[in-house]
Amino acid sequence: MANPLERLATRIGYGATQLPRVGWYVAHGVAMRALQNQARRQDGENTRPRAGTDAPVPDRNALYADMAKLFRDDLANVERAIYPMPNDRDGSLAKLIRRSRMFFEDLPAIHRRRNENAHSEVLTEETREKRPRYFLQNFHYQTGGWMTEDSAERYDTQVEVLFNGTANAIRRQAIPPLHEIFRNRDQRTLRLLDIASGTARFLDFVKQAWPRLPVLGLDLSEAYLCEAKRHLRHRAKLDLMVANGEQIPLADESQDAVTSIFLFHELPPKVRRMVFTEIARVLKPGGRFVLVDSLQRGDRPDYDGLLEMFPQNFHEPYYSSYIEEDFSAIAPESGLRLTSWTQAFVSKVMVFDKTPVLPGAERSEATRTP
Ligand SMILES: C[S@@+](CC[C@H](N)C(=O)[O-])C[C@H]1O[C@@H](n2cnc3c(N)ncnc32)[C@H](O)[C@@H]1O
Repeated sequence: MANPLERLATRIGYGATQLPRVGWYVAHGVAMRALQNQARRQDGENTRPRAGTDAPVPDRNALYADMAKLFRDDLANVERAIYPMPNDRDGSLAKLIRRSRMFFEDLPAIHRRRNENAHSEVLTEETREKRPRYFLQNFHYQTGGWMTEDSAERYDTQVEVLFNGTANAIRRQAIPPLHEIFRNRDQRTLRLLDIASGTARFLDFVKQAWPRLPVLGLDLSEAYLCEAKRHLRHRAKLDLMVANGEQIPLADESQDAVTSIFLFHELPPKVRRMVFTEIARVLKPGGRFVLVDSLQRGDRPDYDGLLEMFPQNFHEPYYSSYIEEDFSAIAPESGLRLTSWTQAFVSKVMVFDKTPVLPGAERSEATRTP
């Protein structure tokens, strides 16, 4: 238990890193919206209609209150030693500025695609055969979709701007449910798989919490995994693999935990189920799957309008079906059970458990064998 001075130092240290970070990305958001409005005015009447909804939309105060709660939860996890003081490792000032420039340089192209509803630029003769059709889209109208190194380098700035600098704190909320099943166990003997690990910002926090835990990050994007490799080059016991979550190239019952952050809203409903089945297959009995993604309709009724408007502004073709998806019904089809969920600002953390093999059941299996 930390003494009051240590607690104060932790709080000051936490605020000193997170507040400027939020300020940096919020400022990007403000500038982005000003540029968008200017571009709309220049386009005159030819722009697509602005997003609208009849459902309730949270006011600014409610959003700020939930954002503040996320950071309080994040800090409480540090104070409870669930994970160490987070190091977001956004890079040097020069790197931040380079990424900021790349972010702003892409805005005109995004604006054009949004106006033209152009979202298939990454579907070419060359890529068609290599990746599933649903994957080959310009999600969020971003240049390069998931296919280019530039897109991978821009991605983390884009996500943090979208979430007002909370994306990493949201990702970290997947760690407490892992801590519940990992504590008092030898981390070297455990296995964790992260599906759709992208640029691996989540895996970075996993390694900060459990440096000797063997982890595997799997993603369909070679370019994003290259960025992940660069970002995590100093980490040991970390593998990255280009593979499809629909066909995980791992043995049955080989993983103690599986995680997936911000993937499921980007999958068509049928694929969501296939990925679920694969996750259940590779989990050991008693293993845990932690899924972090957007809030869904009805989780916070006052947010429903925000969820409805999101896919009107960003190219998110499967988001509307995602917010209606009943994961508590999908899970049992694959042998998992939704055991809890918690809100993390505009996202949620869902925890699914695979039934453990009871000692009695093992014995009766054994007695059945001749
Ligand atoms: C929104 S990003 C999330 C990345 C990362 N988990 C994060 O925390 O930001 C979605 C990721 O899913 C990957 N992806 C999409 N479909 C996939 C599939 N079927 N199998 C594996 N990865 C997939 C994309 O390449 C992309 O990196």
